[in-house]
Amino acid sequence: MRTDAAAAIIDGKAIAARLREEMAGEARRLAERLGRPPGLAVIRVGDDPASEVYVRNKRRAAEKAGVRSWEYHMPADTPREALLDKIAELNADGAVDGILVQLPLPGHLDEDEVVAAVSPEKDVDGFHAHNVGRLWQGRPGLVPCTPLGVMRLLEEIGVDPAGKRAVVLGRSQIVGHPMAALLLNAPATVTICHSRTKNLPAVSREADILVAAVGRPRFVQRDWVKPGAVVIDVGINRLEDGSLAGDVDFDAVRSVAGYITPVPGGVGPMTIAMLLANTLQAAAARARA
Ligand code: GUN
Repeated sequence: MRTDAAAAIIDGKAIAARLREEMAGEARRLAERLGRPPGLAVIRVGDDPASEVYVRNKRRAAEKAGVRSWEYHMPADTPREALLDKIAELNADGAVDGILVQLPLPGHLDEDEVVAAVSPEKDVDGFHAHNVGRLWQGRPGLVPCTPLGVMRLLEEIGVDPAGKRAVVLGRSQIVGHPMAALLLNAPATVTICHSRTKNLPAVSREADILVAAVGRPRFVQRDWVKPGAVVIDVGINRLEDGSLAGDVDFDAVRSVAGYITPVPGGVGPMTIAMLLANTLQAAAARARA
């Protein structure tokens, strides 16, 4: 671990760009084997402005990497049956390797039911119970993109989690839970913290690898961080002045951490790169089948 004055900043944007180029080569090779490009279908229901931006970025990255993408934009009052029918159609579509239903969904739709309707083989979000179970069993499967991107960043900076103390702040299904599972499989000694955790600063300070995914701007303070620790900031919080802030007080923590991810430009670009990686993984599995 580094312990000199200021943390090395992990350039997720540059790492993700390199990975996307590598994946473009893989997509070409897969296209030859399959006789068609790998395909990603994205379903967006309603008009959440953040979701619109996320989906646009995902599709743009897919197309640039040679992954064909389709977007199905359905109205906010889409009936449950219509959404489930669309998913069933994409499950059966031979040109579609990956299916992503952008969350959150409008309130009348049951997210658990919708996630469960996606075929586990095409579940490039890694949210289906089949893939969640495989992850906790330490078996291969499709893994949620954001935590997968965090593991890839650790690999890139040469930090092996084996035997290290890892602390995950946040216990969401999208980030905290799968992050903890991946670190456990690595195999780190893992602690998951949440809103009911007692003495959060002291627990955080034990971490060699600290992952913050709580959705609170600049929540993690300097004295929560062990000198030299790797600090990974998954938070993307929009402030009142329109700027973005992570879950970590970057300027303060930077002087004590060994490595730190910026927001933006840290974990975010890796999430999209891992969506492509998962789509290629799903396509490769179908090419073998
Ligand atoms: N909404 C916020 N993050 C995600 C994600 O990783 N996948 C999907 N499908 N929706 C999201």
